[in-house]
Amino acid sequence: MPVTRREALLSAGALAAAGVLPAVQAPSNKSKTASQIAEDGAEPVCLTDFEPLAKQRMSHLAWEYINGAAADETTVRWNREAYQRMRLKPRVLVDVSKLDTRVTLFGQEHAFPILLAPTAYHRLVAPDGEVATARGAGAAGATMVVSSFSTTAVEDIAGVARAPLWFQLYAQTDHSFTHDLVQRAEAAGCRALCLTVDTPVAGARNREARVKFELPPGMSLPNFKGIKEVRAGASHLPRGQDIFSSILDPELSWKDVEWLSSFAKIPLLVKGVLNPEDADRAVKAGVAGIIVSNHGGRNLDTAPATADALPPVVEKVAGRVPALVDGGIRRGTDVLKALALGARAVLIGRPYLYGLAAAGQEGVTSVVNILRREFEMAMALTGRTNLASIDRSVLWT
Ligand SMILES: Cc1cc2nc3c(=O)[nH]c(=O)nc-3n(C[C@H](O)[C@H](O)[C@H](O)COP(=O)(O)O)c2cc1C
Repeated sequence: MPVTRREALLSAGALAAAGVLPAVQAPSNKSKTASQIAEDGAEPVCLTDFEPLAKQRMSHLAWEYINGAAADETTVRWNREAYQRMRLKPRVLVDVSKLDTRVTLFGQEHAFPILLAPTAYHRLVAPDGEVATARGAGAAGATMVVSSFSTTAVEDIAGVARAPLWFQLYAQTDHSFTHDLVQRAEAAGCRALCLTVDTPVAGARNREARVKFELPPGMSLPNFKGIKEVRAGASHLPRGQDIFSSILDPELSWKDVEWLSSFAKIPLLVKGVLNPEDADRAVKAGVAGIIVSNHGGRNLDTAPATADALPPVVEKVAGRVPALVDGGIRRGTDVLKALALGARAVLIGRPYLYGLAAAGQEGVTSVVNILRREFEMAMALTGRTNLASIDRSVLWT
């Protein structure tokens, strides 16, 4: 629904309240009240405010895993800098009392163009893991993309979800396994399938290697249950001198994209495209959408910022399928800029994990609500009342 001025005023109150985190969940199960957080002087009012809170409340291993990126962490820095460097060109004296942030993706209406990117191992930072994330996303009305590497089975996540779920697929060399996993995701009600194509091997995750990252005791990857057991002690990282991981498919190719689109009943997106030639090839292979992503800078360091990679992809795809983008989105103005560059919607990764670590499901909800409100402010302050009116003219070029 369009946001009226009255609702926007209420939203301003809600924004103030967005930092009010009713109960804080930590892996230790200790909870902390909102007033305690406020007393610490650390009440989060923007996405980056969640980071120090999250760091305090998670293990060093979890922090290095989530906050880290590949090699010299150049790309992860560029992801942020690309948005910070772009300037905005506002229009004034536009009636912005009604804002419409709705977007339709694959026949499904979303109240706002922000989704939760797939991220692995949520139980590293919250006892209920992905269940808390799904509840938090549901309360905010945001679509969560469930990772293949979730520490909760996709069926159990779907059982608590109050907003649509999508499923992210790490295809495996065993095709019958991959086939069954896709069918499980579909049966659980996931509305789209995002095939991650930028991870035939993991990047040089130096920080993960230093902490010898592996799944702590008591955690497993239940999406693999019954087909391939992946228990505590497992890792997406290579063993020994090999660069390959037992749970990533280094043989994945265009043939697999065609194979998946031949039987998937839900729209298939490819996640992790930067090169416009690959985007073109993906459309020809039958995908329904493209996610421009460099995996949050975690794989190929010195690959470009996604905000820089996005425009040539959008141009090449030429409206045949929607392009989404993730990487470095931390502000409502970043969402506006991504849309101005041609993205249909954006995804956020680390910010909601920090929300989850800092305050459990309420933290996830707060992160989405804050970003959504900031996006509405950015629209109002640039004189844009709906998504169709957000184009290149909002950028100061
Ligand atoms: C801790 C962590 C785990 C991730 N796990 C996955 C995953 O399982 N599958 C996947 O396709 N992408 C994964 N990603 C990448 C995200 O989907 C997304 O591309 C990235 O986080 C976006 O950048 P941002 O963190 O700057 O928002 C992960 C990212 C992080 C930070």
